[in-house]
Amino acid sequence: MSSTLTVVVPCYNERANIAPMVAALQAALVGVAWEVVFVDDNSPDGTADAARAIARQDTRVRCIRRVGRRGLSSAVIEGALSSSADYVAVIDGDMQHDETRLPLMLNALQGGAQLAIGSRHVAGGDNAGLASPFRARLSDVGIGLAKKLTGAEVNDPMSGFFMLRRDLFEALAARLNGQGFKILLDLVLASPAPLRIVEIPYKFRPRAAGESKLDALVMLQFAGLLIDKILRGAVPLRFISFALVGAFGVVINIAVLEAARSVGVSFGVAQTIGTFVAMIANFELNNQLTYRTQRLKGKKIWRGLLLFMLVCSLGAVANIGIANALYAQNASSVLAGAAGAAVGVVWNYAVSATLVWRAR
Ligand code: GDD
Ligand code: MN
Repeated sequence: MSSTLTVVVPCYNERANIAPMVAALQAALVGVAWEVVFVDDNSPDGTADAARAIARQDTRVRCIRRVGRRGLSSAVIEGALSSSADYVAVIDGDMQHDETRLPLMLNALQGGAQLAIGSRHVAGGDNAGLASPFRARLSDVGIGLAKKLTGAEVNDPMSGFFMLRRDLFEALAARLNGQGFKILLDLVLASPAPLRIVEIPYKFRPRAAGESKLDALVMLQFAGLLIDKILRGAVPLRFISFALVGAFGVVINIAVLEAARSVGVSFGVAQTIGTFVAMIANFELNNQLTYRTQRLKGKKIWRGLLLFMLVCSLGAVANIGIANALYAQNASSVLAGAAGAAVGVVWNYAVSATLVWRAR
């Protein structure tokens, strides 16, 4: 007999939370034929071992251990695609989501909704468990951006707690972006027709054990997801990521330039230092993010970094050359500068993709 509900739990370094999660699901899902799939990205703390130890005693528990990969969204996708149940739920593995809401979500779906979302932003919900006022602010800004830019009619599009029919997930799977943390938003936006959505309030709990994995990289991935959705896939995701990293590099360049000047370094020297720091940072970010699937490791990093700096230097020459030529033809300085920068980034992207990272 297959289960009615598969609960997918992405986890990274959540060893201490695995057993409490199984116990909590067991208590919450009395009368439902459920199973749980922990999707672990080879956590160093032995999360997968903890899950497998329970799985050996309890056939409702499964574990997918991925190696050489990282990512909340992609972990959820793989866990959900391993299900043959009627419904799939997604819940964080750190006990911050309220599993006692799962039966209500199931009822909503059985009553005709296509997607049930655990929401902190409808009456009765609350996000008090966010770790700091900064996180709360960040969450609000993210939600505002997501709603405005995508027109998603959801009060908590950033929720990582939801349930849907498995066949709907299967239908949308190929259209998912799969990067970063925001798999729910990804799903909502992947649907060609608006979904019948029910939001079920819950109180976001503080984390009991372990720590959050949300970092600057995850935020950059969120920006990439939004841009990808706005452009409707017309521009390769890799290029968006590369361009975002480039924009971030400009910020680094200026910050270093100003810092060096403030301690009395001359403009020329300060700008040279800023440029080098930005290039190194961009190389590292692209290696971690844009090309995470073919990340350079070990000795190859140095060769890659050298090539990357060479490619970007040529890109800078092209950028300046084109901007100068256009400016000489009476183009406005903004237009000339933007055209130069556009040519530069396309050159850097195209050449470093083949030369530095050998993209397939
Ligand atoms: N497999 C895998 N791989 N799991 C991951 C990874 C990863 O790279 N990164 C994070 N996770 C798991 C964590 O172990 C945890 O179970 C869950 O994903 C959420 O990660 P946290 O690091 O706890 O994120 P958060 O608390 O800052 O934010 C979460 O809660 C928000 C509120 O619902 C996220 O799920 C957000 O998407 C969500 O909006
Ligand atoms: Mn969390």
